[in-house]
Amino acid sequence: MAYSQAVVVAGGLAHIPVAIGVFWLTQRFILQQTGSKKASSSSSPEGQVKAQTSLNDSEPKAASPGQPQPRKKAHSDVPVNTYKPKTPFEGKVLENYSLLKRGAIGRVNHITFDLSGGNPPLKYVEGQSIGIIPAGEDAKGKPHKIRLYSIASTRHGDNFTGNTVSLCVRQLQYEKDGKKIDGVCSTFLCNISPGDKVKITGPVGKEMLLPEDEEANIIMFATGTGIAPMRAYLRRMFDKKERSKNNWNFRGKAWLFMGAPKTANLLYDDDFENYKSNFPDNFVYTKAISREQKNPQGGRMYIQDRVTENADEIFSLIENPKTHIYLCGLKGMEPGIDEAMTKAALSKGINWSELRPALKKEGRWHVETY
Ligand code: FAD
Ligand code: A2P
Repeated sequence: MAYSQAVVVAGGLAHIPVAIGVFWLTQRFILQQTGSKKASSSSSPEGQVKAQTSLNDSEPKAASPGQPQPRKKAHSDVPVNTYKPKTPFEGKVLENYSLLKRGAIGRVNHITFDLSGGNPPLKYVEGQSIGIIPAGEDAKGKPHKIRLYSIASTRHGDNFTGNTVSLCVRQLQYEKDGKKIDGVCSTFLCNISPGDKVKITGPVGKEMLLPEDEEANIIMFATGTGIAPMRAYLRRMFDKKERSKNNWNFRGKAWLFMGAPKTANLLYDDDFENYKSNFPDNFVYTKAISREQKNPQGGRMYIQDRVTENADEIFSLIENPKTHIYLCGLKGMEPGIDEAMTKAALSKGINWSELRPALKKEGRWHVETY
């Protein structure tokens, strides 16, 4: 997957007029379809999402009400490709432990690297990814290619020193022609030990960044390790120490739909349960445990079934221009989510196939699947 800063910036510039037009069109569209007074009031300039993430928490945050930020400037200070494949940063493994409980399927690890000593320093923000070059060579004797991994830590790192990065990695294992095959990089990562040095590139990606608006609503759809960026968002929003360091006082509604095969496979579940207890008005945590729960048709419970269950509330949130939706994890979840959103939208008289691209153009629909 290639991320080019130039392409992103050029693409952003080209879409400025389109984005502005589509924003107003969408508001009018929703208003017409639902007759909602809420949509009318939130379509004022004050309601516009300030889609800018500042790397330095102490920097001024965004345009004042009535002066929407030009989209070309959004995320312009977010670092990209500080370390390239030819000159990667060598990070030292600080910890590598399983995130799974007894009885879970497969292997998923939380891995933290020390980034200190980088010149230039390797900095990132929530929602970005890094590249890993696994040690060793491929079958042709060439160095292994880079694999991307979503960053699971906030910019402050798990230890709040600002110079670590954490990943959430599932070991890829499959059978081919009766032979068990282990994925190259995911196996390398799950097997590394504290003290080992690993080649890191990046950071990359501006697709999954959080809006700066403290009153934004954030709907998250995650399957498996797709939770990685969401873990970073939720720490930024609800972790006590993060909040005190952040100068970012999240006051919106965050709603996590999390898909896992078994309860023992739920990742970072204790943290999320804590956030739910501490911030009951701001955080909703909805789980779909596919191999323990059944959907109404008697099949495996997936997050799209939870979307159908909660269609009304989800669409009420989407009517608010401060609402962003993030999808991360299995590529296969995209059609299912699309189908569920189509049905849910239809019941409200909305055409999802028109609304989704409009949300995308407004920078409110964020997808990273693999
Ligand atoms: P490889 O050795 O590269 O093997 C993968 C290849 O095996 C596939 O291309 C396919 O050809 C083949 N294959 C796979 N499954 C089967 C099958 N069932 N049958 C036959 N052939 C098969 N992963 C995470 O764990 N956590 C993350 O946070 C994460 N974030 C990502 C973010 C982005 C933006 C992207 C693009 C990917 C992300 N990934 C993440 C996936 C990660 O990059 C790797 O693709 C994954 O770890 C597998 O790499 P590998 O080297 O272990 O597998
Ligand atoms: P299942 O594997 O039971 O079919 P993990 O990465 O830990 O395996 O978790 C991925 C989760 O996403 C599992 O619960 C898996 O269910 C579920 N899943 C698999 N395919 C889809 C799909 N097409 N849409 C939504 N969820 C899916």
